[in-house]
Amino acid sequence: MEKITSQELRDKWIKFYEDRGHINIGAVSLIGDGSTGVMFNVAGMQPLMPYLLGEKHPSGKTRLCNVQGCVRTVDIDAVGDESHFTFFEMMGNWSLGDYFKKEKSKWTYTFLTEVLGFDRNKICCSVFAGDDNAPRDEETAKLLESAGIKKENIFYLPKSDNWWELEGTVGTPCGPDNEWFYPRHDKPCSDHCDITCDCGRWVEIGNDVYMQYKKLENNKYVELENKNVDTGFGFERLLMYINGYTDGYMIDIFKPVVDFLEEKCGKSYSDDADARKAMRIIADHIRTGVMLIGDVNGIVPSNVGAGYILRRLLRRAIRYANKINISADDILGVAKIYIEQIYNKAYPLLIEKEDYILSEIKKEMDKFNKALEQGLKEFDKLISGIEKHKQFASLKGEVVENIISGKSAFRLYDTFGFPLELTSEMAKEIGYEVDEEGFKNAFAEHQTKSKAVEKGTFKSGLEGVGEQTTKYHTATHLLNAALKEVLGKDCHQMGSNITEERLRFDFPCDHKLSEDEIKNIEDIVNDWIKQDLDVTSVEMPKQKAVEIGAEHQFIERYPDIVTVYSIGNVSKEICTGPHVKNTKELGKFKITKEESSSSGVRRIKAILE
Ligand code: ALA
Repeated sequence: MEKITSQELRDKWIKFYEDRGHINIGAVSLIGDGSTGVMFNVAGMQPLMPYLLGEKHPSGKTRLCNVQGCVRTVDIDAVGDESHFTFFEMMGNWSLGDYFKKEKSKWTYTFLTEVLGFDRNKICCSVFAGDDNAPRDEETAKLLESAGIKKENIFYLPKSDNWWELEGTVGTPCGPDNEWFYPRHDKPCSDHCDITCDCGRWVEIGNDVYMQYKKLENNKYVELENKNVDTGFGFERLLMYINGYTDGYMIDIFKPVVDFLEEKCGKSYSDDADARKAMRIIADHIRTGVMLIGDVNGIVPSNVGAGYILRRLLRRAIRYANKINISADDILGVAKIYIEQIYNKAYPLLIEKEDYILSEIKKEMDKFNKALEQGLKEFDKLISGIEKHKQFASLKGEVVENIISGKSAFRLYDTFGFPLELTSEMAKEIGYEVDEEGFKNAFAEHQTKSKAVEKGTFKSGLEGVGEQTTKYHTATHLLNAALKEVLGKDCHQMGSNITEERLRFDFPCDHKLSEDEIKNIEDIVNDWIKQDLDVTSVEMPKQKAVEIGAEHQFIERYPDIVTVYSIGNVSKEICTGPHVKNTKELGKFKITKEESSSSGVRRIKAILE
């Protein structure tokens, strides 16, 4: 196989399919639009869902191709080995009710053997073995054979292997697939070392999905009018194979970063396994961070949803950078290499957003580094406490397990900004575990405590406490909505407490609010108050409430039927009330204090005059 660069591989893929009547639709945002319940774009087909279900593509074409960035974060902790990445690119092409199995199996075969020079004798394929819902795919097997794949290299595998769908979704297109495999080397581990062997020799390099079904509830499927093809080949993985690497971090996308890190930390990537792991984690996580912040729908680190995943990635990278003496400037240096050298052509938007991306990464580093040192001390103290306890216990013949309590892990999270997963990973390194269930409980307890105070007040409120608390309750909803306008829609309530005199509200935010921001929030709330907005409530199943976008905190803790309070059309929240009937009852809203509550959390106190 001839060596090629990443740019050449991009170009070859697009040209091959353009020559066969496809149009290059380019890549779209990495951030899911929420319609499928998947946070990030995890496959090239995801943005094309409506067209695979039958809608006409805006280009008017039925043959599409692109190279699309994807983010998959289920395996964050596995990153550090030679083949896991949280961001990767998928080379894709699609038939929207146009060509089907015959053309597709021939084209994939031709691309691999003629364009890239894969050895036809070594390529293996798997096809769907069939079950009650869909037939055995003998048709594809025959077509593969006539394309040039050896009969003995074609395997029939069950649904768990040869069926592609977006897990956890309903109403999405799916179908049986044909997976393509190539061996990493020519030394079988036994006489039975075929594609089903898990010795690591066989790796799937891509697949052709014959997407002709729509997934319904209860794992049922209906046949689509269109018979589509959805192809996805892993860009980085193919580059690795073609260039003869077994380590994914040697491809030209990562090599400049690895070289840079090696030089900066003075450790050897090839000889020092710990340093190598750290360099891979930094290289992977900072790349994903750059892509997510620099996306058209870019996000920033926060304590919820996609923002939290981004925070976890950046903080894990920072911790590993500290381990090998990579400075904050060097981390920014890594980001710059991706923006300026590696993705400048394929993702020009990154250059436009460069200053912004760098400043967001820097902000997160500053914030985390400040708490990190103290947090690490706290962590060490915690462990030596448990170790001492163990010694005492063993004198008495008792056993203490290597477990960090949920409460302690929550303290590390709340006070020092340690994501739970980070604490778990640090624990694992020294043979400890975190009681994750306990963490969740501590988290929930913390949330309900503030709520309980609130509810407690209302309970007595119903029994005669003044109207003032009711007013503050409604004002709290307005404040929550106004914060979203000023600080972004990720902002949300983390805690709230109301007395007769004032309201108090905690929310995730990485900076002290400026005077302008405070004024802006006050103005927005007062403007709504002046609009005489009606406050209404309606009961509905909680799933429905979530669907219509009602604000909520711990959905699993609510009853099945919830009350959603709306204020005009500016606010919608799941809540037990009570509230005023119209915002004109509230008077003038004024923020009296803005302060830090805990790491990454700000607190506002406000009154109604
Ligand atoms: N949708 C298929 C995949 O992600 C092509 O592998």
